[in-house]
Amino acid sequence: MNINNLKILFTEEQLQERIKKLAEEMNKFYNGEEVYAVCVLKGAVMFATDLVKHLDMPLKMEFIRLSSYNGNTSTSGKVNAVDISLPDLNGKNVLIIEDIVDTGLTAKFLLDFMNCNFHTKSTKFCSLLDKKIARVTEVEPDYYGFEVDDKFLIGYGLDYDGYYRNLRYIGYAEKSALE
Ligand code: IMP
Repeated sequence: MNINNLKILFTEEQLQERIKKLAEEMNKFYNGEEVYAVCVLKGAVMFATDLVKHLDMPLKMEFIRLSSYNGNTSTSGKVNAVDISLPDLNGKNVLIIEDIVDTGLTAKFLLDFMNCNFHTKSTKFCSLLDKKIARVTEVEPDYYGFEVDDKFLIGYGLDYDGYYRNLRYIGYAEKSALE
């Protein structure tokens, strides 16, 4: 895949502007209460670090690592917990931060995991992108930045075979460019 074939979907400015708006909504909702922000590695790392800079309550960041992709552009359909060690979240406000909800299997896995292991004060799911059209489960994010079409997206945390997470924008490549 050649980076010159990428078509820009969201510029750095569009991403940052939307992230600030999401943080404003969250600041209103949490109203100064403590939050545990759980970043789902690796994809959400850029989004999570930018989002939390605009959150103004006492906040702790946790990182968990899951995998569901087969290496390039297809999901395995099975979510694996690579590292999901978390502190005691009973009675806490938990904000799960994801890069994209696609089939929704990862989101469902995480929400089930939280429900089975903790009685949180609140559990909210936030995703920068929402590919509603690809959903095979019933989960919906409580917060999302942009709804997107069923294209393979790259950049700002989203990878193609491990590459391009460092791009400051999000783009997509036509299927032919990915083969
Ligand atoms: P889901 O379990 O199918 O909802 O997919 C969740 C994970 O798949 C995301 O956290 C991403 O890591 C990855 N993913 C889904 N769609 C894309 C994409 O368009 N580009 C890159 N990664 C994706």
